[in-house]
Amino acid sequence: MEKKRSYYITKHGSARTAFQLREEEIPQPRAGHIRVEVEGFGINFADIMARKGLYQDAPPTPCVVGYESVGRTMDDCTIGNERIEAGTRVLAFSRFGGYSTHVLADDRAVQPIPEEMPLGEALALAVQYCTAYHCAEERVSVFPEDHVLVQAAAGGVGTALVQLLKRKGCTIYGTAGSEEKLKYIQEQGVHVPINYRKQDFTKVVKEKLGKRGLDIIFDSLGGKSFSDGFNALGKGGRIVGFGASEQVGGGIQVLNTLKFAANFGLFSPIQLLLHSKAMIGVNMLHIADDRPEVLSRTMKAVVDLWKNGEIKPVVSAEFPADQLAEAHEFVEGRKSMGKVAVRW
Ligand SMILES: NC(=O)c1ccc[n+]([C@@H]2O[C@H](COP(=O)([O-])OP(=O)(O)OC[C@H]3O[C@@H](n4cnc5c(N)ncnc54)[C@H](OP(=O)(O)O)[C@@H]3O)[C@@H](O)[C@H]2O)c1
Repeated sequence: MEKKRSYYITKHGSARTAFQLREEEIPQPRAGHIRVEVEGFGINFADIMARKGLYQDAPPTPCVVGYESVGRTMDDCTIGNERIEAGTRVLAFSRFGGYSTHVLADDRAVQPIPEEMPLGEALALAVQYCTAYHCAEERVSVFPEDHVLVQAAAGGVGTALVQLLKRKGCTIYGTAGSEEKLKYIQEQGVHVPINYRKQDFTKVVKEKLGKRGLDIIFDSLGGKSFSDGFNALGKGGRIVGFGASEQVGGGIQVLNTLKFAANFGLFSPIQLLLHSKAMIGVNMLHIADDRPEVLSRTMKAVVDLWKNGEIKPVVSAEFPADQLAEAHEFVEGRKSMGKVAVRW
């Protein structure tokens, strides 16, 4: 009889030693959930952090991580008000458990997708585009005259943000860590590409905008990048913080984490009042837990934007499932631009 196969993280650390393939029973149908037989799943940076033991929301080991899968529904079901037949191709968000051949997803976190939507593009929509959409469309208003910075703009969420911002007509600043990535973000629509390994982004912004400063920053790095970004905002500026990539580094991890936390700096609401600035935090997992309608709404919105041709996720690489370790190393080694997909 067919079994469910899952890649478990059994030991925190290197991608080569962390994973173990295990077989289990295929989940039984459950009220309020949809069973999906999976074609492929996506890699997110949070998975790298979970594998390294740096992601506080991740379950204890042994655990299966992964938030997004594309596959076919195993039973007739209802999504929203729509009746869906077994065998319909869907995109599913799951709270972990995504690195599996079969997932059981909350029915509010599943969206039907067109047959012709490529696997990697569909996977990019679940976490990376939903996060970008919630940040750039729902948490701030973006105007054509705005100057907006996207940190790590060549990444999955970074690419999504750039594509969503391009529709607003604003001036986009983007940081990335190599010349190849700078070329890529320029092609995506970044007007002012900044190599943050060679240039201090605050100096580039100062040269371009003087005292005026930036209107909006989308920050996935955290730490010093967040506090420097806050200082680079002009009056009325907003910084949306949604990541902590800066925490991941070589050397002794506990020291990295302490340095990272200290680099955030201390902020007082008085600073916000005096300078008319705002700080906004986003954690889509917690939002999905407590406000599932936000996830449903954003998933539907990004699938519709894809159908209308307004967004076009970039798939950096697709790996077969037995090369999961290589897929993790590719993302951790900062080689990816856009989405990384894994196919069963
Ligand atoms: N809050 C939420 O709900 C939410 C949801 C999704 C993602 N996120 C966060 O958003 C960020 C981007 O996620 P993603 O999945 O789209 O990943 P990604 O941006 O595709 O990959 C990470 C990129 O971050 C940059 N980076 C900066 N510091 C790094 C470091 N110490 N180690 C490795 N890479 C580093 C690298 O680009 P360069 O080479 O250009 O530096 C790398 O390519 C992550 O921090 C993630 O945790 C948060």
